[in-house]
Amino acid sequence: MIDPQPAQNRTLSLAVLSGKGGVGKTGFTLNLGYALHRFSQPVLLVDCDVGLANLDVMLGVSPKHNLQDLIVSDLDAGQVLFPVEPQGLDLLPAASGLTHLVEMDEDAREILMGKLNRHFSLYDYLLLDLPAGIGESVLSMARMVRQRVILLTPDPTSLTDSYAIIKVLSSRWGLRSFQVVVNMAESAQEARQTFEKLNQVCLNFLGFELESLGYVHASPVVRDSVRRQRPFVLSEPESEPARDVLSIARRISEARQSLLPKLSSTPVLADLERSVP
Ligand SMILES: Nc1ncnc2c1ncn2[C@@H]1O[C@H](COP(=O)(O)OP(=O)(O)OP(=O)(O)O)[C@@H](O)[C@H]1O
Ligand SMILES: [Mg+2]
Repeated sequence: MIDPQPAQNRTLSLAVLSGKGGVGKTGFTLNLGYALHRFSQPVLLVDCDVGLANLDVMLGVSPKHNLQDLIVSDLDAGQVLFPVEPQGLDLLPAASGLTHLVEMDEDAREILMGKLNRHFSLYDYLLLDLPAGIGESVLSMARMVRQRVILLTPDPTSLTDSYAIIKVLSSRWGLRSFQVVVNMAESAQEARQTFEKLNQVCLNFLGFELESLGYVHASPVVRDSVRRQRPFVLSEPESEPARDVLSIARRISEARQSLLPKLSSTPVLADLERSVP
């Protein structure tokens, strides 16, 4: 039985996707969470990946429960969510026993969404760190969120893999709204060129354009922050990557403001085939 939705949902759900692994999704999602927290909160980070550099590892925390407990046990979301500092930022850790969400059948996914949606609506932002690639679990989660942020690097293989993920999502479910962030850019020019290339391919072959949210500079600050298990938005707020992520967060926060009327009429995560207009 799926829980009823509250009448006034205000949560912007957003998934960070990449065609290729190792482009910086987890670090970006984490820092974006902290940056968005400055604009509006609470924020929930949902770890949908079981890779080695998980959100919990990047934060240096060891939560007791995880996403899997919600599927296989009677625990509810409130018992599984792990509060991190500062107040107003929570983590839903990845399911450690699953390779990823791919093993979830439709019923389990429905139960999960039902259990979680009610709780999710308490947050202003829901950020999903998804595994790389175009596995079924990635695709099904990507179609349930309000915004899909494609993270890519200037590397040509990252470009082709990003195009592949956009193509699959648009051809299968008619999705045509994608936000793009270029990570590890050496300069504004390189970031712009990278975005333009991807945008042009989408326009030529899929018939729609992408939205640029900005870029994040390549910087040793990012690697250091992973090593120190402390988000660079907190530890190095004046650094280039921190400023970059803050300006991306500002754009997302503005988008949320204008989306608020729409958000209120649909669940935080919804099966687009059925319920999102
Ligand atoms: N802007 C950046 N500048 C320099 N290094 C970066 C930047 N962004 C990410 N990195 C580095 O890239 C590596 C991979 O980052 P991360 O684990 O966040 O990627 P990912 O996309 O989540 O990987 P996976 O696909 O394995 O989940 C990390 O060592 C991180 O320090
Ligand atoms: Mg990752």
